[in-house]
Amino acid sequence: MSSLETKHLFGLRGVSKHDIRMILDNAKQFREILERPVKKVPSLRGMTVVNLFFENSTRTRTSFELAEKRLSADTVNFTSSNSSVKKGETLVDTLRNIEAMKIDIVVVRHKGTGVPKFLADNSNAIIVNAGDGAHEHPTQALLDMLTIEQKLGTLEGKNITIVGDIRHSRVARSNLWGMTTMGAHVTLCGPSTLVPRNRELLVNPEVGNVTWEPDLNKAVQNADAIIALRLQKERMDDSLLPSMREYRNTFGITHEILEKAKDKVLIMHPGPINRGVELDSEIADGEHSVILEQVTNGVAVRMAVLYLLAGGRANG
Ligand code: CP
Repeated sequence: MSSLETKHLFGLRGVSKHDIRMILDNAKQFREILERPVKKVPSLRGMTVVNLFFENSTRTRTSFELAEKRLSADTVNFTSSNSSVKKGETLVDTLRNIEAMKIDIVVVRHKGTGVPKFLADNSNAIIVNAGDGAHEHPTQALLDMLTIEQKLGTLEGKNITIVGDIRHSRVARSNLWGMTTMGAHVTLCGPSTLVPRNRELLVNPEVGNVTWEPDLNKAVQNADAIIALRLQKERMDDSLLPSMREYRNTFGITHEILEKAKDKVLIMHPGPINRGVELDSEIADGEHSVILEQVTNGVAVRMAVLYLLAGGRANG
């Protein structure tokens, strides 16, 4: 099969191994194109993509826009702060008005879980989720997977430890679904107050290959890659954490923690980093860190997602 089975990208839950493989393989080709002097291909010429961001973003919005430009699409950026949303326009009215301008693909970030699916149900555009509430952030997980495959060859059989605010993290959810589909074992570690409610990620029969380990010292021991998550202060009740200092002392990735891990362990973070909380600066900028490579891979992965969802037109 040469096209994706999914028509939109809402999340990685339920996305097949075939589709994830195809996105990662295409992203590897686009990654090579990004190293060329001329980084542009005509794949999406004539198509229009709207980046609809209702929440702040640096990496995701910039890399989607760059990916669209590299694919020769026409792009429009919409931010809710300077739009008619401020005058009370509804989400569906906003979408229908934008759609009336003949757009093909909508990339959306919104604080509401399920907004990408809701938009797909109310429009004819292809919808790509750029992060919805605490639900999913599929392109972040795909770029994380691409980075691990580049460094370690495969995800099959690898041990990935995700540390931090699991409850509020859409990155953790997408990585959990995507990485277990690709044959990795995922260990989740964090404060007991930030375990997902009802432990739904840990007992879901769809996910076989996941462990909860509250002790960071044990959680890093067999890890091939450690993903430190950002503390989602904007989604968090103050009572969930005693203090940032205590968090750092128990769940921060420090030199002492790194000494307990494998010699070649990868250190990853989706950004933005709270330095000295989730990661010490010497670790974020150190030899194990692949954080900036994750960002570079973000452009390639988003090119692959847009290209494949648009139907995989000629890849120049
Ligand atoms: N990783 C990530 O989603 O970063 P931004 O919020 O800057 O897009």
